[in-house]
Parts: sequence; structure tokens; C-alpha cells
Amino acid sequence: MKRIQITTPTSYDIIIEPGALSRVGEFLSELYTPRKVCIIADSTAGSLYCETVSNALKEAGFTPSRVLFPAGEHSKNLTTYANVLEALASENLSRSDVVISLGGGVATDIAGFVAGTYMRGIDLVHIPTTFLSAMDASIGGKAAVNLLQGKNLAGIFWAPRLVICDPDTFKNLRQTQVHDGLAEGVKNAVVSDASLIPRIQNGDLEYMLERSLSIKKSLVEVDERDQGLRQLLNFGHTIGHCIEKASSYSVSHGQAVAIGMIAEAKAAFGMGYTNTDISGELTKILSGLGLPTELRYTAEELYPFALIDKKISDGMISIVVPEAIGKCTLKKITLAELGEYLYQACR
Ligand code: GLY
Repeated sequence: MKRIQITTPTSYDIIIEPGALSRVGEFLSELYTPRKVCIIADSTAGSLYCETVSNALKEAGFTPSRVLFPAGEHSKNLTTYANVLEALASENLSRSDVVISLGGGVATDIAGFVAGTYMRGIDLVHIPTTFLSAMDASIGGKAAVNLLQGKNLAGIFWAPRLVICDPDTFKNLRQTQVHDGLAEGVKNAVVSDASLIPRIQNGDLEYMLERSLSIKKSLVEVDERDQGLRQLLNFGHTIGHCIEKASSYSVSHGQAVAIGMIAEAKAAFGMGYTNTDISGELTKILSGLGLPTELRYTAEELYPFALIDKKISDGMISIVVPEAIGKCTLKKITLAELGEYLYQACR
């Protein structure tokens, strides 16, 4: 078993252990005496793992209940959020009870936002069952839903008390879900460790997960509230989120981030923010991993979505400039420059 500690104002452990799902009750007992625990799961993870997790909780004396919602990005909205909140109230969950997320990034976000706002905040445990949720969404406390106008526009920072990752769940992922994880792994490599690329290319996904966690740990520990260095993790996401929204979420998060990274590398070079254009190298790496690389939208189509990015403040937006694979910096640009940046991205 591996344990990684995240040391932010709320510190918590990430447990990585094959078979951990059947030991969830034992792990929760390290933190809590028996109480009510509501499992919030997407329908896919719910049908695969809810029974195992519920039984493990019962064996340890907890009283589990469950709320399921349809799997997919389309569920990441205010309606699901409200339905889940009301389900918690119907279960008479109190402030001393616990919410568990079980599933991919959408479950992590919905459960995080619900836990942070139900009765002004109750404890949260994440059980990620995809690479994306294990490597990214479960750590750092960001939790949000999409609004009609754009992605992740309503949310909260709400750190979990524990993250339990069972790598056996990755064996059940669809190919697109594995690809989503690979894109996020490549992003972490570009942001801070070029040597991660060959490990990903060699299919060492266990290493990708652990190295990605350590990269994210180092950034959230110095900047939990996303006001500085943590923004490096947004590489590929400014344009990626626009692509997701423009495609009505038919392009998955990882696919959009893959295309977004190439576009943002092109844009940074085209704008003269860096002397090196890594877009060609990135295209080779990402297409070799089976990810899409072609941007099929125009700057005019993407710009309205870019204008509702939550990173905009005082008329400026912070973008990530890739200097080389393994080294990125942050730069603030005006919204007028953002238009030109998108134009360069779409050349
Ligand atoms: N997914 C980017 C972050 O957590 O900051």
C-alpha cells in the first residue's frame, strides 16, 4: 500500500492500494466512529462498485446510503447538484456524517460541491475510479459544475479528508477514459517533468499516476487557492474547455486537453511569448498515444467561450507558456490579446 500525504490547510492522505474498495470501511474507521455515509456515484461506477463499498462500510459499522446519477459530463450541472443535495436531506444526513464520491471526475466534482455546501459543509472522502479523477480531480479540493454559459463556473474549494484509490478499477475503463488519463499525464510532463513522457509512451501507467500525484501535490501545497503556480496545471485547459463547450461536450476532457495543449503551444509561439514552438513535438507524442490533435474550431467560434473563463480577473487572463517539454511559465494577457492568441492557436 502507498500513502501520499497532501499538506494543505486541510491535510489528507491518498491511499493507493489494489483491492482498496473492499477495505473502505477499515480506512474510514481510522478517521471516524460509525455514522451515516452517503455514497454519491455516477451510474457506471455505481453499478460496478457501490455494492462492494457499501458492504465494506457496513462491516465496519457504518450506515451507508447511495445516490446515483447518469454517468457523463452532461450530468455535471445544477440539476444534478440540487437533486443530490435533496437526496442527502431526505436521508437526514447531519453535519457529522460523511459523503463519499465514487467514480470519475464528474462524481468527484458533484460530491465535492455538495459536501462543501450541504449544511454549510460536511466531510468528504473521494474514491476515484478513473485515471482522470485519481490523478487530478480528487486532489486539491476544486469542485464545480458547468453552467449553460461554460465549464466549471459554479463551485467551491472543498478538500477531502481522505482519498482511496483502487488501481484495480482502472482495468474496467473504456479506451477513451484511458486516453483522457494519458492526456492529463502528458500535461503534467510538459508542466514539470519531461522524463515522464517516455514512461507514458511505454505504458507505465502506475508510474504516470504516482508522478502526476507528486507534481500536483507540489503545486497545490504552495497554492491551494489557484492564485499562482497551481495555474500551471491549466496548460491546455483554457482552449480545451472552449473545445469541450463548443462541441457540447461530445469531445471528452482528455481529448480537448490534448488538442488544447497543441493549440496553446502554437499560440504562445505565434504571439512571441516563447522562442520555442513545441507544438510539433507535442503533436507527435499525443497522436502516438492515440489522442486527437486537430483543432476543428475557428478563433471566432472559441472566443465567446474563452471570455467566460473563470481565470479572468480585472480584464486579464493568465495563460500557460510552454518554454520546453518539462518547463512552463505563466503570463497574464489582456482580453484583446486573448483574441489574437486564439487566432494564432487556430492558424
Ligand atoms: N485541474 C487543475 C487543478 O486542479 O488545478
